[in-house]
Amino acid sequence: SDEELDRRILAAKATLGDRVVVLGHFYQRDEVVKYADFVGDSFQLANAARSRPEAEAIVFCGVHFMAETADIVSNADQQVILPNLAAGCSMADMADIDSVTECWEQLEELYGTEPDASGRVPVIPVTYMNSSAALKGFCGEHGGIVCTSSNAATVLEWAFERGQRVLFFPDQHLGRNTAKAMGVPLEQMPMWNPRKTLGGNDEQGLLDARVILWHGFCSVHKRFTVAQIDQARLDFPGVRVIVHPECPMPVVDAADEAGSTDYIQKAILSAEPGQVFAIGTEINMVQRLAAEHPEHTIFCLDPVVCPCSTMYRIHPGYLAWVLEALVRGEVLNRIAVDESIAAPARVALERMLAARP
Ligand code: 13P
Ligand code: SF4
Repeated sequence: SDEELDRRILAAKATLGDRVVVLGHFYQRDEVVKYADFVGDSFQLANAARSRPEAEAIVFCGVHFMAETADIVSNADQQVILPNLAAGCSMADMADIDSVTECWEQLEELYGTEPDASGRVPVIPVTYMNSSAALKGFCGEHGGIVCTSSNAATVLEWAFERGQRVLFFPDQHLGRNTAKAMGVPLEQMPMWNPRKTLGGNDEQGLLDARVILWHGFCSVHKRFTVAQIDQARLDFPGVRVIVHPECPMPVVDAADEAGSTDYIQKAILSAEPGQVFAIGTEINMVQRLAAEHPEHTIFCLDPVVCPCSTMYRIHPGYLAWVLEALVRGEVLNRIAVDESIAAPARVALERMLAARP
């Protein structure tokens, strides 16, 4: 029962004390978030993982790429645990190291490898945090960097200072929305087609490109539509529409603001009471914000509930299971990134942490 699980989780946490830290992403259900020592967006949780070097174990209530990142940035002897190994991210799975490497080789063929007169290399790889450790490692090895939705513009600026172009993966929408807001014209953002080689891709488009987009997307955020925003504005004149930048470009353009999960939370926290917010992001987060802020009216743009099904795979039962194992001295569901990948991935992550304003 829920009470039984509650008792077991609290008892295990009390026994473990500072030996364990539980991290929870904003998209986790309330029944999990209530046990988290830190709740945040993917950037904040990467920092939180580094901030508790004394904890033997980091239990990551989020998805696989987040746990990998925590393992990469935390101390070597800390063990990162993902309560349910099936909690992945479908967007992260849309870019794999082989296809990105193949694309890279073909771009090198097209652009060469020589820097221009101002020392900028032909192309800088930028991976969204929502990607495998192998891709972060690829960026570390090839002069590239990681970004999250909270620092994508800063990271793109960093990349444009060092490169003539950016190859951005896996999320086409975050790449397009961020570059567009920075003034990059759409015609300078071609999408790489991994099913085709150089000849099949538009060579002139690639030569003129500022940002080459990968074809990935988030199945949760692609559900949001301009029609939903129009409806919200009809129903609630004066509504403030805020969406996550993983939403398609027309949705971001029609919204009042776009920002990371942390941005959305801060916008609500800092608003004068009595505002109406229509939010375009995952439902668990929106419902929690609505419950925590009765002074506002807060609702999800998508009337059909849209949870992230993989985030939802972290059930309190799994949390109890891994915590009780730790009490017995057993480490279950450990996420350990091989040092040959972790070392270059750390380079790309450290560049991101240093690039943040
Ligand atoms: P944040 O970086 O805003 O936490 O988003 C992560 C994510 O997976 C959004 O879908
Ligand atoms: Fe991945 Fe989308 Fe879920 Fe975020 S909401 S973890 S991008 S599937």
